[in-house]
Amino acid sequence: MNISITKTNAPKVKPESSVLGFGQYFTDHMFMMDYSTEKGWYDARIVPFGPIALHPASTVLHYGSEIFEGMKAYRRADGKVQLFRPMENIRRMNNSAERLCLPQIPEEDMLEALLALVRLEEDWTPSAPGTSLYLRPFLYGNDETLGVHAVHNATFVIIASPVGSYYKEGINPVKIMIEDEDVRAVRGGTGYAKCGGNYAASNRAGERAAQKGYSQVLWLDGVERKYIEEVGAMNVMFKIGDEIVTPALTGSILPGITRKSCIEVLKKEGYTVNERLLSVDELAEALANGTLKEAWGCGTAAVVSPIGELCYKGVKYIINEGKIGAVTQHLYDTLTGIQWGKLEDTYSWTYPIN
Ligand code: PLP
Ligand code: COI
Repeated sequence: MNISITKTNAPKVKPESSVLGFGQYFTDHMFMMDYSTEKGWYDARIVPFGPIALHPASTVLHYGSEIFEGMKAYRRADGKVQLFRPMENIRRMNNSAERLCLPQIPEEDMLEALLALVRLEEDWTPSAPGTSLYLRPFLYGNDETLGVHAVHNATFVIIASPVGSYYKEGINPVKIMIEDEDVRAVRGGTGYAKCGGNYAASNRAGERAAQKGYSQVLWLDGVERKYIEEVGAMNVMFKIGDEIVTPALTGSILPGITRKSCIEVLKKEGYTVNERLLSVDELAEALANGTLKEAWGCGTAAVVSPIGELCYKGVKYIINEGKIGAVTQHLYDTLTGIQWGKLEDTYSWTYPIN
């Protein structure tokens, strides 16, 4: 793939790592590439970061034809920059594209585009503890007509954002409310795809939880409101007795790469890990009788985020005295250790950019 590069003549001042937060600052450049059914992918380019012009009838504005990914470039202690399991994001992006009738992007082209942008913006990868360069590839339908159909024109973009912690609590336990009204996704729908619409549908419950002082909601399945699915925009895991349980991927759950990595680490270390249906009644019982030892969310942005309190039908349950548990801490240390190059990567998950 031939990528043309137009450099900015107005580079920005990079923010101090103490102010980063999540997704508030953007680097100097972005990658773009267009698609039409006639031409296939064309005009791969890196251009100065800035607004994107859209036709007012563009498909994405009306019918939500949009998917995205979230991954990070990490600066190691030795100064080198590396990605974490990038092929997993690339494959998931194409799975999401298939679900929304958006065009497939050749895997090697997506990888090349990511590497080209991260190499160009290497200086934007921060080095303070817990910081990284968040990469947000996204793909949207861009037909200039109001007809409802699979798209014929699309645009693929990658933007990059230096980030610190996702939750203001950082690695401290968060308070979560079990949502039994709104649902995030349904089987047969788009839950397993990373499409913008899923997040739009989640916001109302997230806002209601925030008004009551909770960081996020724990989603139940869309058919019976019975089975646990995810927590906010993260997968969720529980330690019940000696068993680690995470909801099985039934189609309405996003197959997280952090989830997959946690499962692989835990299994390799001899833990009992089950991907299975977990009903909210079973969870409530484990909360009430004290067998629920730990609960945590897992995702690229926060890595591992302990849950210190769960509220269900107005009853508040404190988990592990509101403190991070040993398994949660161990997963956090292992994954972040590999991601930031502080631990040996015995899994071959890291991908140096140079
Ligand atoms: N579930 C949802 C709905 C998400 O948006 C994310 C974030 O990407 C995840 C789970 C975690 O996935 P990953 O670990 O690949 O970041
Ligand atoms: C994650 O990376 O865990 C996320 O949920 C990303 C989010 C901002 C959509």
